[in-house]
Amino acid sequence: MSEHKSIGTFSAESRRFEPSADFRARARISSLEQYQTLYRESLDSPETFWRRELEELVFTKPWTVLAEGKVPFVKWFADAELNITESCLDRHLTTSVRDKVAIQWEAEPGEVRRLTYAELAAQTVRFAAALRSLGVGRGDRVAIYMGMVPEVVVGMLACARIGAVHSVVFGGFAAESLRDRINDCGAKVVLTQDGAWRRGHVVPLKETVDRAVEHTPSIEKVIVLRHLGQERAPISLKPGRDVDWAEAAAAAEPAAGTPEHVNAEHPLFILYTSGSTGKPKGVLHTTAGYLAGAYLSTKYVFDLRDDDVYWCTADVGWVTGHSYIVYGPLSNGATCLMYEGAPNFPDWGRFWQLIEKHRVTVLYTAPTAIRAFIRAGNQWPAAQDLSSLRLLGSVGEPINPEAWVWYHEHIGGGRCPIVDTWWQTETGSILITTLPGAAEMKPGSAGLPFFGVEPEVVTSDGRAVGPGAAGLLVVRRSWPSQLRTVYGDDDRYVQQYYSEIEGNYFTGDGAHRDESGYFTVVGRIDDVLNVSGHRIGTAEIESALVSHKAVAEAAAVGRPDELKGQALVVFVTLKPGHTAGSELVSELRAHVGKEIGKFAAPDDIRFAEALPKTRSGKIMRRLLKDIAAGREAQGDVSTLEDLNVLAKLSADE
Ligand code: PRX
Repeated sequence: MSEHKSIGTFSAESRRFEPSADFRARARISSLEQYQTLYRESLDSPETFWRRELEELVFTKPWTVLAEGKVPFVKWFADAELNITESCLDRHLTTSVRDKVAIQWEAEPGEVRRLTYAELAAQTVRFAAALRSLGVGRGDRVAIYMGMVPEVVVGMLACARIGAVHSVVFGGFAAESLRDRINDCGAKVVLTQDGAWRRGHVVPLKETVDRAVEHTPSIEKVIVLRHLGQERAPISLKPGRDVDWAEAAAAAEPAAGTPEHVNAEHPLFILYTSGSTGKPKGVLHTTAGYLAGAYLSTKYVFDLRDDDVYWCTADVGWVTGHSYIVYGPLSNGATCLMYEGAPNFPDWGRFWQLIEKHRVTVLYTAPTAIRAFIRAGNQWPAAQDLSSLRLLGSVGEPINPEAWVWYHEHIGGGRCPIVDTWWQTETGSILITTLPGAAEMKPGSAGLPFFGVEPEVVTSDGRAVGPGAAGLLVVRRSWPSQLRTVYGDDDRYVQQYYSEIEGNYFTGDGAHRDESGYFTVVGRIDDVLNVSGHRIGTAEIESALVSHKAVAEAAAVGRPDELKGQALVVFVTLKPGHTAGSELVSELRAHVGKEIGKFAAPDDIRFAEALPKTRSGKIMRRLLKDIAAGREAQGDVSTLEDLNVLAKLSADE
């Protein structure tokens, strides 16, 4: 627990921002009192709260039991039956939402496609039937390795329609990472596409899948969407294994796309995320509880109205894309903008052009993007008409007050509230934020708990700390959209999330809370880094590095970085016969790119003769963090095995 001390102090931010009277007047929750009343109800009378709030959703068998069992294993809406796609699609087909645009998509080169709810439903039903005809059914796992195209949403929903469990793997992961994830969940089928645009280049997704499935015994079929076409992204289909997406959909009988009604706790998806060991965790979410969280948080946090054009800039390969591009907005009948490409292609004006062109009203993005835009210059947003925006959101990492204020002023024109949303892959939906019409905003502070959520900042023995004091962020009780387990590894689930503080969900984050109950999340206190909003486990990086022939030992740590939040610094020692130098640096960066994905390539590689270790042989990461950050090594070094090591590492600066 010694690492926990490092979250220490924080600078106080005193600026306060109120939602405008106009925003408040139209907001669902328009005062602190209204929020507090609902919040109290959600904790004290959860039965009444959830019954009323989920009224719109479709359950083929309504629940009579709200929650069954105790943490870590709670079943929510335990006896209900449903198919999540009926809440996201079918329920809209009998209302005016039927002909409303569900997905408004823009390709990186500029082509625009619109899919209404009726069209999205038809495509989903057809593709669900196609999956069934290929032998995919209830409980089967389907890996999805695609870019930001409308069909990725069709693929996810089609899986859910037939009770199959999707596992989307971010398209930036390398073949080895994809292979490991497929093998961990035993996927039967992979959905992919020929290629995707990224900064004017084609990312050859199918080629990566071909390499990954060379060593995945469970895979029976690879279903390939021809998105770019043979000329731009040439591919070959392997007879007997590969199936053309469009052909399979055309041959399917829509009548065979009926929804599979499953129990509330039926698995919906597995999403792999980094933890503190080398092996990524398959975070498992189930159906009704996840839907409840995604649906209700989208409704209140983004305060969606009929005429909103909502844009979440995340990739569907991350949880933000699952909850706030797919399940949350669709269950609310919203119009979502979806953009295929890079934020700075062909230049730093692209996001702002997209907002002007599509008249985006709600924008949800990440601090790392905001900081990159700040650096690119105010002239880019200034050149565009951003007056359609009415609400802004931030997610994925702490937003520094300066970036918050810039976002408010230069993007929101001073009139748009900002929701700084704290949550995790494991939490399924937003747990902490200030509802936009309800309360004042404090830059840098995520704010107040969402309905049904009881967070607390505690000491390492579980006692709540007072206002202003730093501690561990935990959640006192279960909430509907929490992860249910780590796929195939209940012990790891309990160990990771429920063993630190008895009876509490342990987030892995450090936080503090002010006198008015606002939570400020400072960052991870475990060995997980947040680089440009990507969650990276130091142990994963280290095991990738030591798999290189030259590397004897490796230690990865984070260094504060103005742009990326954290930068990845690794210290390596070499095996005899290998020489440090820029050639090896490039080789090691490429090696990590190949083993995990380019986004995980270290920013800084430092060679050392030895790593600082305790007498019991544990690498002293705290010291390495200080060295990486260019700080004088702090704290107790009395257990350091060889003080010379420290002197040498520091001298290398
Ligand atoms: O450290 C917190 C940080 O991101 C972690 C979760 O990462 P991931 O599972 O990849 O999910 C990201 C998208 C929800 C958290 O443990 N984090 C996320 N949002 C915030 C944040 N830190 C501070 N403020 C936030 N708003």
